[in-house]
Amino acid sequence: MEQAVQKQRIFSGIQPTGNLTLGNYIGALRNFGILQDEYDCLYSIVDLHALTVRQNPAELRKACLRTMSIFLASGLDPEKNIIYFQSQVPAHAELSWVLNCYTYMGEMSRMTQFKDKSAKHADNINCGLFTYPVLMAADILLYQTNLVPIGADQKQHLEIARDIAERFNGVYGDVFVVPDGYFPKVGARVMSLQEPTRKMSKSDPEDTYIAILDKPDIIRKKLRRAVTDSENSVVFDPENKPGVANLMSILSALSGMSMEEITAQYDGQGYGKFKDAVADSVIATLEPIQKRYEEISADKAYLQQVMDSGSERASAIAHKTMLKVRKKLGIAPWKL
Ligand code: TYM
Repeated sequence: MEQAVQKQRIFSGIQPTGNLTLGNYIGALRNFGILQDEYDCLYSIVDLHALTVRQNPAELRKACLRTMSIFLASGLDPEKNIIYFQSQVPAHAELSWVLNCYTYMGEMSRMTQFKDKSAKHADNINCGLFTYPVLMAADILLYQTNLVPIGADQKQHLEIARDIAERFNGVYGDVFVVPDGYFPKVGARVMSLQEPTRKMSKSDPEDTYIAILDKPDIIRKKLRRAVTDSENSVVFDPENKPGVANLMSILSALSGMSMEEITAQYDGQGYGKFKDAVADSVIATLEPIQKRYEEISADKAYLQQVMDSGSERASAIAHKTMLKVRKKLGIAPWKL
């Protein structure tokens, strides 16, 4: 008889702050959907991470539900995947504390995201911001994750998660699976439309990013205004032509065209036509998601059910890892 093969496990998370962007979609969310058939997947709305920056509670609640609705609207099937809120599984915070004791101050202070964020929020450089990557390591290691689909900006955090896992395993034996990253071939770093040497970020001004929920006319307007150069050549040269290279990457990621094909089709015809083609492909991708989003976000009973079932299923897996960790560490519960 054929034996059922245990699927490899995937974990990834997205912060529920602000508007999810085209960068989040191309860098992560789209891969979540592509991987859901082949892997055993957990996709989390990481609301505890969002607390590292001051949030308005009513806004945060709305943003959490909006993010879950976008996950579902982008095609993630809650039967196949575990979709849940990080804060509903207390083991994330618990393991994070344990791993804090196996992480060094020096490692955390080298994290570029910590440096960037503490410059941005100079009035609130809290300990949570500092140990943010440890909570992220806990998210991943809690589920014995094999593969983590993320954008390039999270690579450094994944490396530290691997280091922490290896360090812990070095002391206690094979407790954690050491995870690998999974990055998109094109679009691992979608750049700002106004400053194409910086990554597209949902915490930057609105004209610098395309939100997944932006309506078609807004998308077209933002792309027409995207910074390019004065050369009028559609050639992939990220160093010297970062604006054009970024738009080419977006078009390539969404349409499957290679850079050479894009050059052959749009070079020498003015940037207007090229930008319109980028807008067409972005709109064709996002419009169906937006339609499903309208239906899903209105169905509160459905969202509640996804939320409850997700946290229950995630908790069961997390519990197993925590029992193992507790046993290795020598902390309760014991059988007396
Ligand atoms: P977050 O919420 O900033 O982003 C979510 C995902 O989107 C990717 N991404 C991008 N990809 C390409 N181009 C961009 N401009 C772009 N902007 C964002 C991110 O790489 C990420 O994959 N710390 C994480 C959330 C997290 C997590 C985890 C991820 C917490 N725990 C465990 C994986 C595993 C974050 O802030 O992502």
